[in-house]
Amino acid sequence: MDKKIFDLISAEEQRQSEGLELIPSENCVSRGVLDAMGSVFTNKYSEGYPNFAGLDKDDDYVVVATSEDYRYYGGQQNTDKVERLAIARARRLFHADHANVQPHSGAQANNAVYNAWLEPGDTVLGMDLAQGGHLTHGAKVTQSAQIYNFVSYGTDPKTGDLDYEDIEAKAKKYRPKIILVGYSAFMKVPDFARIAKIAKDIPDCLLMADMAHVAGLIAGGVHPNPLDFGFNVMTTTTHKTLRGPRGGLILTKGKVSNPLKKPEHTLENIPTLIDRSVFPGTQGGPLMHVIAAKAVAFYEAEQPEFKEYAKNIVKNAKVLADALKERGFKLVGDGTDNHLILVDMMASFKVDGKTYERALDKIGLTLNANAIPNDTMPRFTPSGVRLGTPAITSRGLNEKDMVKIADWMETIAKICAEKRQDGVTEGRLREEVRKMALAHPLPSAR
Ligand SMILES: Cc1ncc(COP(=O)(O)O)c(C=O)c1O
Repeated sequence: MDKKIFDLISAEEQRQSEGLELIPSENCVSRGVLDAMGSVFTNKYSEGYPNFAGLDKDDDYVVVATSEDYRYYGGQQNTDKVERLAIARARRLFHADHANVQPHSGAQANNAVYNAWLEPGDTVLGMDLAQGGHLTHGAKVTQSAQIYNFVSYGTDPKTGDLDYEDIEAKAKKYRPKIILVGYSAFMKVPDFARIAKIAKDIPDCLLMADMAHVAGLIAGGVHPNPLDFGFNVMTTTTHKTLRGPRGGLILTKGKVSNPLKKPEHTLENIPTLIDRSVFPGTQGGPLMHVIAAKAVAFYEAEQPEFKEYAKNIVKNAKVLADALKERGFKLVGDGTDNHLILVDMMASFKVDGKTYERALDKIGLTLNANAIPNDTMPRFTPSGVRLGTPAITSRGLNEKDMVKIADWMETIAKICAEKRQDGVTEGRLREEVRKMALAHPLPSAR
């Protein structure tokens, strides 16, 4: 009926099929995830929660008829099963006692945790956005930064690793109610045990990890899980390395109880405090079609192939990082231990990140301009670009393909550095990229 939108969907399908997605926070989902999202569950209101009474972490599918009802609408015969299935799978994947699968996004998930545990004015110690953290970790433009007192830590410029001494000193000084570990542009693996030790001496300090970027690596067993190191809460998006629909997820350790009754404000009760904070605290009706798609993604992440996928994401990222270094690209932290690479384009080629992002877009390689730690360039033309391997690995690209991508990136960087117009080379590279992309169809098109 709506030809304009139909045409735009077709055009986007073509853009994704014929290009290579290097934005590290993006991925390409399976047909199953896509179909669940497009299902009739979008018609259903399900405010509240399914009853958790029969949830067993070893059971895939638990149906228990109980007299307790945590929903505000009728007709939940199927939605309850979907949500319980999503919860059970998420708990298993991430070794959690409880999961809230309702957050509409990663930002919503983080805000719900703050709202569950903090009073206005309480202090959170989190990673600075300018050093690789996320907006929701206390950037001044966000609502949470206006409600709570965020204190920031950063990275050690020599190693690119977290500045643990800074974290320890600030934790002692400010005695935060939350210590938050998480990032959007950080290439090392955090030492969760060390951070848990720092938090131990601070009363009522909630340990929170925002693993939005690396949740798929954790699920695939190639990145440590903060919940195994004494963290109370892990938030994540479901659409990055985890390869699900756009959305959020909160995993908790602690005691699960009836979400209709307000529990005591203790760390042990954090699962229920968070359930109450998601609904009705910060959201209305859950997106049941998205929760169905999350359940499908969790199912996929439990399969042995996903372990292989997670391993390949990191392998490809390391090969790509090395190939870029050999071609004169200067990488923040000198490489990567995960899926993500941050290039200092100004130091490498005296080209700003935005110019380079636009130039690569023309040949079908998509990445994003990004600030590097302590960047002195303007926000919209930062020094760096951020790229990663989750989406191209989903399409089946291997180490040889990474070297080819590095070749293309070098050619375009040189054209930008010399401020040349070279439509012939760009046209040739556009064809090469298209050929590689079409040889590896989107998973949903297979
Ligand atoms: C670390 C981190 N947390 C939270 C978010 C927010 O997720 P969303 O865009 O789904 O709100 C992101 C998204 O990029 C992120 O990287």
